[in-house]
Amino acid sequence: TAPLRVALLGCGTVGGAVLRLVEEQAADLTARVGRPVEVAGVAVRRPDRHPEVPAGLLTTDAHGLVTRDDVDLVVEVIGGIEPARSLIQAAIEAGKSVVSANKALLAEDGVALHAAAAKAGVDLYYEASVAGAIPLLRPLRESLAGDQIRRVVGIVNGTTNYILSRMAETGAGFGEALAEATDLGYAEADPTADVDGFDAAAKAAILASLAFHTAVTASDVHREGISSVTATDVARAAEIGCTVKLLAICERVVGEDGDTVAVRVHPAMIPTTHPLAAVGGAFNAVFVEAEAAGQLMFYGQGAGGEPTASAVLGDLVAVARNRVAGAAGAGPTAYADLPTRPIAET
Ligand code: HSE
Repeated sequence: TAPLRVALLGCGTVGGAVLRLVEEQAADLTARVGRPVEVAGVAVRRPDRHPEVPAGLLTTDAHGLVTRDDVDLVVEVIGGIEPARSLIQAAIEAGKSVVSANKALLAEDGVALHAAAAKAGVDLYYEASVAGAIPLLRPLRESLAGDQIRRVVGIVNGTTNYILSRMAETGAGFGEALAEATDLGYAEADPTADVDGFDAAAKAAILASLAFHTAVTASDVHREGISSVTATDVARAAEIGCTVKLLAICERVVGEDGDTVAVRVHPAMIPTTHPLAAVGGAFNAVFVEAEAAGQLMFYGQGAGGEPTASAVLGDLVAVARNRVAGAAGAGPTAYADLPTRPIAET
């Protein structure tokens, strides 16, 4: 049978891992999808920096690649707003289903992208955009679609969690711990996105949008980072049996005139006996409280090439299966078609 052909946009830490896993697991992917899955091309800015990629696959013409007739699916792991947004829009308009790991873009433009995908009858999946390897968006979007979610609270940024954990464990200074996190490949290219809470705010917006079926953007999120947390703060917290964690908190606020949603990201002192206090390193953990389900906890690796690539591949299998079944675009519509709730003041 004819292979499904994938355009890969970006080949950094995550893209490189995606490429390797698609090749290594070719036989399993074929069995799981029902057709072979093949990489048709890899768009990068500097081909000379990717000697590991077969030269015939590399291109600098990302737009040309996503609109090519022989491309069925597009995987975007470039990150950032542009050119990712224009490329995803072009791909959707050309009838390709899209898998993205782009939290910044989904948190800013999720509504428009979902509307475009619905109009074109294609899928838009982005499990890797929040909490790396942890299955979280699909559970919110699908498994809990019949429940009422009250609260989503968690640690969704590995870099700041690594920094705060190292500061607590070793008394290391902020700069030293940040350098370690960067060396391990957790931090964003510009670590201020992690340190100042922008990364967590984007993830909180995506989680709130899916949990509460409303459009929350990153700018709706009250945001405070960890740059003003000192070694002394961390030591004092320990003295009183607490640990400092950067939390993302998304809550339904019940009001007489209808419910609203409040979303915030800020450092918080939590007792060391709390399950979130034990979440160390670059791990992420997210609690979900729903009316019927009660409390759920999701835990795992929230950053790094392979864990994030695992989520990308899961999405790739899902959109590829839909394509094979002729059911692309028939899945959950996320929040695009639902009314927007007012965002509560925080
Ligand atoms: N910089 C992010 C983090 C990567 O540290 O969590 C995963 O989104």
